[in-house]
Amino acid sequence: MKKEEPSLVADAFHNDPAVREAKRILMERLGEHQMQLDGVRQADPERAKRYQEMIAELSAARSGNLYFPYIGSGIGNGALVELGDGSVKYDFISGIGVHHFGHSNPKLVAAGIEAGLSDTVMQGNLQQNAESVEFSRLLLEAAPNTGGGFDHCFLTSTGVMAGENALKIAFQKNAPANRVLAFEHCFAGRTITFSQITDKPAYRQGVPLTVPVDYVPFDPDSALKVLNDHIARYPGQHAGMIFELVQGEGGFNVGSEKLFRPLMERCREAGISVLVDEVQTFARTPALFATEFFGLGDLVDMIWIGKASQVCATLFRKDHAPQPGLLSQTFTAGSGALAAGCVILRELRDGKFFGPDGLIQKYHDRVTDKLRSIESEDPDLVSGPFGIGVMIAFTPFGGDPAKVSAFVKKLFDRGVIAFVAGSHPMRVRFLLPVGGLTVQQLEDAWEIIEDTLREENR
Ligand SMILES: Cc1ncc(COP(=O)(O)O)c(C=O)c1O
Repeated sequence: MKKEEPSLVADAFHNDPAVREAKRILMERLGEHQMQLDGVRQADPERAKRYQEMIAELSAARSGNLYFPYIGSGIGNGALVELGDGSVKYDFISGIGVHHFGHSNPKLVAAGIEAGLSDTVMQGNLQQNAESVEFSRLLLEAAPNTGGGFDHCFLTSTGVMAGENALKIAFQKNAPANRVLAFEHCFAGRTITFSQITDKPAYRQGVPLTVPVDYVPFDPDSALKVLNDHIARYPGQHAGMIFELVQGEGGFNVGSEKLFRPLMERCREAGISVLVDEVQTFARTPALFATEFFGLGDLVDMIWIGKASQVCATLFRKDHAPQPGLLSQTFTAGSGALAAGCVILRELRDGKFFGPDGLIQKYHDRVTDKLRSIESEDPDLVSGPFGIGVMIAFTPFGGDPAKVSAFVKKLFDRGVIAFVAGSHPMRVRFLLPVGGLTVQQLEDAWEIIEDTLREENR
């Protein structure tokens, strides 16, 4: 007979009947209160002054205005969020893709309560709890269709740091190669190195060049020729090529196997590591990894994820394992983020999100049908749609940046939070919180979006 492990003090505490009852009551009360958030609500005028002061205080503290006057109250109901001014809005940008399971998601709040009762707020280098083990296991198990799976994942707290870790591994493996390849108009984050790789002039203003970057057009007709030219010009000097398979910040430009496969094959042939940035695409296309969606798993050396997973991570195989000392950090993530990340990875594994009949494709079709129907009525009002899965964009008003920004701000006031992408043309984008969105909420929000579009066009 298997000998039972003696119970830990922690297990006894978390399962103490009084503690369990307290957690049950908290969740029950959350459900009762969040039910009051059942649609858009305008701001409470009595809160306006204090709210403006808070916005001004935060803007001054961070030395720059917030894009939206958004300070959350700390409660929501799926796609709906309450702000500190008493307004309730549909959040269709989800913190640029972070709140993929909506606001006050009961499973995530429950995980947060457990984590809040844990001994430490943060986990990291010298201090890992069981959530770090589980998150790593779930993530490695979730990637079987990406080139036969990965052997390792290194956790971290931001998307750009997961990218830095991938890049460091590629440099170490391919030393002394010191150049990087990336796509034109890519976004990869804003550390000193990634401010250079991210292809936006304003983000490099005044930042020293630490890594030389050679750009390849995001265009299947010309990309391979340009890549070959770079390789011929700098033979043996490229450590890796960064692939952003759907350009997020660039305007939701969706690539294709036709674009990526020849480039990846050429990189492999030339000993250049194939690095895929899935910070924005993870869990948002009709497959868990966009790499899998585009059928590129056999060609990829490393993938990094973030945003929807709450905890960021770099996945790699034994052949890219770093030498000791290359990667480390004080914090991996907060215990709450790790606990929530475990719930999210399990939900993504067990839910009906992916495939042609999955929720992601269903929401995509619903929104893009609506956009097409507006466009067929009035092609000057809207063009598109662009994007994939629950990354959906469209170009209103011919993409005029001033008009598009004004529209997005008006939409915020009217009760729907979206964001812009690209610059010329500027698009409107949604990152739909598919794990916390109902069809009814989508329909309600859409009425506001369409009304606001027509109103701004007058
Ligand atoms: C494709 C991509 N890579 C990297 C990042 C950077 O992630 P983070 O802001 O968490 O550092 C982002 C953020 O928007 C992204 O979209």
